Amino acid sequence: MTTISRRSFMEMAIALGATAAWGQPFPARSSAPWHERRDFYPEGVASGDPESDSVLLWTRCPPQNKDRNSAGKLNVEVAEDESFRHVVAAAEAPISEASDWTCRVLAGGLKPAKVYWYRFADAEGNGSRIGRTVTAPAEDDARPVRFAFVSCQNANDGAQNAYRRMIFEDERAAEQDRLGFVLHLGDFIYEIVWYPEDRPQGMYDRRLRDIVRYEHGEKVRDFHIPTVVGDYRAIYRNYLHDPDLQDARARWPFVCMWDNHEFSWLGWQGLQKFDGVTRPAQTRKVAANQAFFEYQPARLFKPSGPSLNQFDPPRVADAPITHFDEHGLGQEPNNLAAIGSLRGYRALRWGRNVELIITDQRSYRSEEPTDRAEAKALSSDDFPGLMPQEAIEILDAGSAYDGGHPPASIKYGGAEVPNFRREQPPQTILGAEQKAWFLERLRNSEATWKIWGDTVATLDMRADPQNLPSGITAAWPGAGYAGFAASYGTGDHSTAYVERGEIYDFVRENGITGFATIAGDRHSFWAGLAAKALPPKTFEPVGVAFVTGSISAPGMVEALEHGFPKEHPLRPLFVGQGPADTRPQPTINLLLRHGVRSCLEYAKSGDISKARALSNPDLSPHLSFVDMGGHGYAVVHVTRGMFETEFVCIPRPIERSDGTDGGPLLYRARHRANLWRKGETPKLESQILEGDPRFSV
Ligand SMILES: [Fe+2]
Repeated sequence: MTTISRRSFMEMAIALGATAAWGQPFPARSSAPWHERRDFYPEGVASGDPESDSVLLWTRCPPQNKDRNSAGKLNVEVAEDESFRHVVAAAEAPISEASDWTCRVLAGGLKPAKVYWYRFADAEGNGSRIGRTVTAPAEDDARPVRFAFVSCQNANDGAQNAYRRMIFEDERAAEQDRLGFVLHLGDFIYEIVWYPEDRPQGMYDRRLRDIVRYEHGEKVRDFHIPTVVGDYRAIYRNYLHDPDLQDARARWPFVCMWDNHEFSWLGWQGLQKFDGVTRPAQTRKVAANQAFFEYQPARLFKPSGPSLNQFDPPRVADAPITHFDEHGLGQEPNNLAAIGSLRGYRALRWGRNVELIITDQRSYRSEEPTDRAEAKALSSDDFPGLMPQEAIEILDAGSAYDGGHPPASIKYGGAEVPNFRREQPPQTILGAEQKAWFLERLRNSEATWKIWGDTVATLDMRADPQNLPSGITAAWPGAGYAGFAASYGTGDHSTAYVERGEIYDFVRENGITGFATIAGDRHSFWAGLAAKALPPKTFEPVGVAFVTGSISAPGMVEALEHGFPKEHPLRPLFVGQGPADTRPQPTINLLLRHGVRSCLEYAKSGDISKARALSNPDLSPHLSFVDMGGHGYAVVHVTRGMFETEFVCIPRPIERSDGTDGGPLLYRARHRANLWRKGETPKLESQILEGDPRFSV
């Protein structure tokens, strides 16, 4: 285990903007007054980013009456036992209006791989609930590591039953099989909120909950978005009032990274995009960063200075961003200040076997090319969501296409669509500086498994419309396979071919083994192999890759059930029905795993085995499992010799479950890879443990 001096610990706490609580070698019985008053702490407690000797602790304690608005203090205690007879660390932490009465404490001097309990109290002893947390194992600890990864919880139109199920299973697990932490890969909040009266029909299958009213909100179409830090704080507070989420935060340390919705739905850098119009939003990016900093106990770097417990936002203005550098980074000073106000990418270590490298996919990325207005000419209502793969590759690579010889136009059926990307740099999602950091971390990692926590998915999502029998619909205007436009859920690392290729080539060239990517954002479960290209190009996997279903946000299958045109000739490929089915089935899973012929066979016979027998083997050699309609969470279990991911899928979380188990399970699927050696190809084996995800395999 690494030891750290008290002094350098204090410096670390200051750098993280947290109060320090240093562990004592001799535990003592608590002497501070504490009686539980959860109403004083309406957002509960949380812990985050554990290391082997320290962890961040969090709560919020707003003033009980309006006069008490000056700075106050909370006592925090950390103990080895739930009854606080063995308190190992205590401190007084300041809270103030400047940080919206949130409190961040770094508890240090702790022992590795150990459960601790913590609680807060004010001067009168009015106490928070008791939280539980777990430190990381020491770097030389070779024991297995187990953690959950999640993403996309939507309290506006869904329930957080997945957390209840996770708690239920963890409480019943043997001590050594319990989760060490929960990795949250973003969309912790959805900043776009529908007020129930704006959409009386609800959202797809769901009713809308009246969760927040933005004091300074802006209405866009029929929804509302935050504009100032007070609005962003309000949405975090309301999400944290969910009892299942609150209980989960009180049970495990969370490791949180933002995705898009912590700032803005289609946001990138300091920009927002609504109705096809991109607009500067630097002030909102800073506000979003401030609220994230205040509400998530995470080891984030804040360049604004060492003040304790305060964000100190840089002053920025919403100024047009017109000049982008050779990596697509907007050089406008307010943009650079806004995205620089908080650095989220970081690496954390759990023992000998896990290094988790977490990246930021929104703050430094260049514009998503398939979502641009000019790209509309490369799609058609005849083929909903589909875009020729070669067109996406040309748009992604920009000026670098074909060794620096991009075509002037892109063929689409009989049309020649101008290549609007031909003078622009290749798409980047990480940005140059972060990518350099990421590759160095990968190269230098000594952990058995180098796990890339990428908020956006890396696995290709494609279909084979070139194999449609003629006469069903118009001729496919592409040269071969189809990818999906960003509006169908990509716009992620699966279509950032150049950048993904650079990363995967780096992994192969440096002989890096034990490489795994885990992601969220797609609202669907995916298991497969990490490869930069698929047939007819050379398929050379360099790692394993997974995507977790959403906790509660609606997925594509639900959207298709409600929105896919009823009489469309390609309906069997998306939400088809066999002769005996009384409702639409998630045949898009078949489309992605096996191809168009399997989908058409299913619509004809309703026989899933016959459908799978017509699988196109070149379509998705990288995939073992796809469920575009799945909700729930994923559990990673690693040892020195293997990497295992389990998908725990629950029914559509339309309403909160009354039960202690979070409601029934739809299925449990496990995917396992043994550690491969340099030069060997990783392999993944899937096993269905419960239920029958029949369209997914
Ligand atoms: Fe999401």
